[in-house]
Amino acid sequence: MAACDWSAIRSLETKSLGDLFAVDAERVSLLSLDVAGIHFDWSKTHLTADALDAFVKLAGDAGLAGKREAMFAGEAINVTEGRAVEHTAERGEGASDSVAMAKNFHARMRALIDAIEAEALGPIRHILHVGIGGSALGPDLLVDALGRDSDRYDVAIVSNVDGVAMEEAIKGFDPAATLLVIASKTFTTTETMLNANSAIQWMTEGGVEDPYGQVVALTASPDKATEWGVDETRILPFNESVGGRYSLWSSIGFPAALGLGWDVFEEMLEGAAEMDRHFRFTDFNANAPVLAAFADLYYTQARRCETRAVFAYDERLRLLPSYLQQLEMESNGKRVTDTGEAIDYPTAPITWGGVGTDAQHAVFQLLHQGTHIVPVEFLAVIEPGDVLDPDHHRQLLINAFAQGAALMKGRANDDPARAYPGDRPSSTLLLDTLDPRTLGALIAFYEHRTFVNGVLLGINSFDQFGVELGKEMAKAADQGGQDFDASTNDLIARAFGSD
Ligand code: F6P
Repeated sequence: MAACDWSAIRSLETKSLGDLFAVDAERVSLLSLDVAGIHFDWSKTHLTADALDAFVKLAGDAGLAGKREAMFAGEAINVTEGRAVEHTAERGEGASDSVAMAKNFHARMRALIDAIEAEALGPIRHILHVGIGGSALGPDLLVDALGRDSDRYDVAIVSNVDGVAMEEAIKGFDPAATLLVIASKTFTTTETMLNANSAIQWMTEGGVEDPYGQVVALTASPDKATEWGVDETRILPFNESVGGRYSLWSSIGFPAALGLGWDVFEEMLEGAAEMDRHFRFTDFNANAPVLAAFADLYYTQARRCETRAVFAYDERLRLLPSYLQQLEMESNGKRVTDTGEAIDYPTAPITWGGVGTDAQHAVFQLLHQGTHIVPVEFLAVIEPGDVLDPDHHRQLLINAFAQGAALMKGRANDDPARAYPGDRPSSTLLLDTLDPRTLGALIAFYEHRTFVNGVLLGINSFDQFGVELGKEMAKAADQGGQDFDASTNDLIARAFGSD
């Protein structure tokens, strides 16, 4: 589609947050809502009723409703690759044939999990999952968030090609009791295949007679997995139309389904499906992913904010910022429209973040007094994840809320070094509890928000050609005999010697 015209958004009247609250007693109810166990509050952003009207019009001009329907209907909305975008079908929401296919693949996954639990592959106690990007970040987030009290299996997820990561992961693992799970949509990714080979070598050296008998493959390229040596009965395929960074709902979620239990996995899918239905059938001005995207776009387009920060005031969600970095930046970090026109406005902001309260003692100085305006997103969970003195959780939540208030309010002081400008925006997501259902809904919320951002920006959120060049040049460098620029040649010679 054509590049978007942001003039209506840029010319919106700008009032300070303090003034917006002062003139509108209904502001909190206008800009907050509850969906699937999550309370969303955008009242501390600069969105107003007028801004919502302008964005709803823009969404109409961008064809958001039609594109949303096209996604759920399984149309090829990933235009640059001629593919449908069907992660929602994994949750039972989508084209009927794709939903049926996903159900079959899930049944296959469940049967394998049952067999492993019945020790058909021997006394498995450890799961060594190798994968990278979307084939690691999602499972890692799920296992880290929900697996703290689980004593079913030890799960290690290795992504980096740095052997240090693999060495650390296998420390304490018994090769004979380890299931090697190779997760790769393409089954060609250099890091994953190298890690898989090293894991096989470790098992062989550890005395496992048939290491390939302890391998499971999660992939949309089953033929490649067979070629590599995985037995057909232990290949868990998923649909090609499920993008890598949207794939934790497919067999890529296997370490969570096995490590935490099938019921947990299923509840997570149900929570995501609830968010899918909310996104699909709710008017834009009461639709959580849509409103969140409006706030995102207000700050990138009207205020030219270059980054957005996400702080999880919950240790269990500490991996969420890195998960979101891939989801948002790989999806919307683009510079042309989906029809190839150059874009002259900012696309995805840089997503960064961390955990509260740690981040308060490290990066919040810049948020309060720096020259950058950074829209902040706070996440917190009402039900504690710990059983220590309740003051821990109380302090955690109080701090999350107080930081949002302080960013907004600021403080005057005769000494400029001690003055806070205030009027700094934030939004808050307050979860009732962190269970599989709510986590599923939360992740689906972020997926749809990313999609809405992409549609309004006029870009295709579902390709990622920008990662190819670096991979190709690394391959060329690995093969040698290539002439790079003087700096790169020098670095290669220093590391490997020149011959
Ligand atoms: O290089 C980027 C990327 O293609 C991501 O989009 C993807 O999640 C990751 O690599 C891993 O790819 P695969 O699952 O095919 O190994």
